[in-house]
Formats: sequence, structure tokens, C-alpha cells
Amino acid sequence: MTYTQPMLREDALIDKVIVVTGGGSGLGKAMTKYFLQLGAKVVITSRNLEKLQNTAKELETETGGKVLSVACDVRNWDEVEAMKNAAIAEFGKIDILLNNAAGNFISPTERLTHSAFDSIIDIVLKGSKNCTLSFGKYWIENKIPGTVLNIVTTYAWTGSAFVVPSACAKAGVLAMTRSLAVEWAKYGIRTNAIAPGPFPTKGAWDRLLPGNLQEKFDMRKKVPLRRVGEHQELANLAAYLVSDFSAYINGEVVTIDGGEWLQGAGEFNMLEAIPQEMWDQLEAMIKAKKSE
Ligand code: HXC
Ligand code: NAP
Repeated sequence: MTYTQPMLREDALIDKVIVVTGGGSGLGKAMTKYFLQLGAKVVITSRNLEKLQNTAKELETETGGKVLSVACDVRNWDEVEAMKNAAIAEFGKIDILLNNAAGNFISPTERLTHSAFDSIIDIVLKGSKNCTLSFGKYWIENKIPGTVLNIVTTYAWTGSAFVVPSACAKAGVLAMTRSLAVEWAKYGIRTNAIAPGPFPTKGAWDRLLPGNLQEKFDMRKKVPLRRVGEHQELANLAAYLVSDFSAYINGEVVTIDGGEWLQGAGEFNMLEAIPQEMWDQLEAMIKAKKSE
């Protein structure tokens, strides 16, 4: 067994209807594929219908599952409502919302126009709010015990230079996760989040590590486990968190980053650079001070 293999039993999501925003590419596509393999019906949404339809065709062929593609810009409330109605019309209900759509790029903050800042906040925070509010109203009205899973990232709580709009927006999504976990629990609605570290995707890498930045800043070196994430291990975690197996997990944010954010945080973590053979010498120096 390895982390690149599927984890859950094959019927873990049987008859569940799952909406994945940003499901046409990257991590959203990987999670959609695994949900289909576990028996779910999946609605994938983003702004680009052609991309969604190509993904749907590919995943249906690969898994034998059923995918509905719906064009929807999550920034627009009316489009989110229409997407929700299309999903219900096709599959009869919705059980799970995966807020995965995002926008991001690196930039010194002072270079941003006010509307560039807005464009990230609108996709990530307003988009997640639009989908969560729309689906929550539907679940409460119809007494459906829905589940929300939000994809954030570890700088939702540390903050990060050069991706400030994304950090602000993801922090807001994390606050929404924890707030609604309490407020909507009485309706049987669970709300959780995943905070991934680096998982290579074209969408993220083109915008966060353009040109030769990929060679210059080897993401593996930032991770104590010295590797980046595999899409299947994220899909395993997401499938568990939306499944009934995690019925008592509510308001949690699960970090899946190989220890990356803690490596940046610990005061003396830089001592990893000390070669093994130097430790005898350092120990002797420290002990010598004690006897002075
Ligand atoms: C400065 C920029 C810019 C850049 C765009 N803008 N790119 N400013 N530096 N590199 C400005 C534009 O000039 C414009 O400003 C405003 O931002 C909006 O840009 P548009 O292209 O008009 O917007 P839109 O078509 O809505 O595209 C949104 C986008 C784009 C976010 C800019 O990149 C996109 O579609 N992204 C979706 C996918 C994505 O980003 N995936 C990566 C997620 S990775 P004006 O002033 O003209 O309005 C992720 C990982 C997190 O989240 C953690 C990693 C570890
Ligand atoms: P990605 O492939 O670029 O995914 C982002 C998706 O969001 C795209 O499918 C995009 O589709 C969609 N989207 C963007 N704006 C939208 C809008 N206004 N309305 C609807 N959909 C929109 O990148 P990814 O790496 O897979 O990212 C997926 C999620 O993981 C994001 O939440 C990201 O923040 C998070 N994450 C990624 C990493 C990583 O290392 N990759 C790390 C931490 C967190 P369209 O362009 O077709 O609209």
C-alpha cells in the first residue's frame, strides 16, 4: 500500500451528489475522479464550459460515473443559483459542496490595482460565500444534512507575502468554515476544510512559479518530507471528509503539507543545515560553558 493508491471502500460515496467548483482542472479534477470511482454523481463547474465538458467526457470514460458540466462564475449570485438548480434538476438533490475554485498570482501588493485585489477576493471569498449560502439555504429548507468542504491553504493562518489577496480571502473562508460548523450543525450540516501545501498543478504553478522560478525555488526543499503532494493523497482525504465515515468531524481544518508550514515556523528549524559530524563539537562547546 502507498499514498498514491485509493484509500476508501469502493461504495463510500454511493448515491451522493457532489458539486465541485473549479472541477475542470487541477486538484478539483483529481478529487472529482476519485469521487466518481467511489460511486458519487458529480457536478463540475467553472467559467469555461468547453474545458468542463472535455473533463467530464474523460472522467466518465475512465470511471463509468456520471458528470454534469455547468458553466458558472462563482462571483455571481445568479449564476450560482442557476448552477444549483441545474444540479438538482439533473440529479434530484445535492449532498455535498466542495468549494475548490480559486484565483491567485504572485505580486508585490503595492503593484496591484484595487480591482486586481478584488478579483482574487471575489473568486475565493465571495465565490465560496455565494455557493455556501445558496446551498445552505436549500439544505435547511429541504431538511437535507449537507456537507461543505472548503479548500484553503496553510497561509490562511500564517499569512504570506506576495499573495496577500489570496491570504486574506482564504483566511475568510477558514473563518466561515469554523463559524458555520457551529451555527449549522443543528441542521445536520457539517463544514470542514483542507489546507494543502504544494501539490503541482498547471493552474497554480503557471501563476505562482512562472518562468524559471520553479528551478530557483524547489518546493520540495521547503517540505520536511522533501517531496510535493500527490493528487491521490489529497483526493483520499477529501473523499473521507465528505463521506459519512467522517460524520463526527465538524469545523476541522486538516493540513496536508508534509510539515511545510511548521518548517517555516519553528525558531531553530534552520539547524537542519548543521552536518551530523558537527554535533559532537557543538555539544562539547555547550558543555564546556557549563563548567566555566
Ligand atoms: C498583477 C495582475 C496579474 C499579475 C492579473 N492581474 N494578473 N496584476 N500581476 N500577475 C490583474 C489584471 O491586470 C486585472 O487588473 C485584474 O488582475 C483581473 O485580471 P483579469 O485577467 O481581468 O481577471 P480574470 O479574467 O477574472 O482572471 C482572474 C485571475 C486569473 C485570478 C487573474 O489568474 C485566473 O483566471 N485564475 C484562475 C485560476 C487560478 O488562479 N488558479 C491558481 C490557484 S492556486 P485590472 O486593474 O485591469 O482590473 C492557489 C494556490 C494557493 O490558490 C496555495 C499554494 C501553495
Ligand atoms: P486550478 O487548476 O487553477 O484550479 C482553480 C479552478 O478554479 C479552475 O478550474 C478555474 O476554472 C476555477 N475558477 C477560477 N475562477 C473561477 C470563477 N470565478 N468561477 C468559477 N470557477 C473559477 O488550480 P489548483 O491548484 O487545482 O487549485 C485548486 C484549489 O486548491 C484552489 O482552491 C487552490 O487555492 C487550492 N490550493 C492549491 C494548492 C496547490 O499547490 N496546487 C495548494 C494549496 C491550495 P476556470 O478558469 O475554468 O473558471
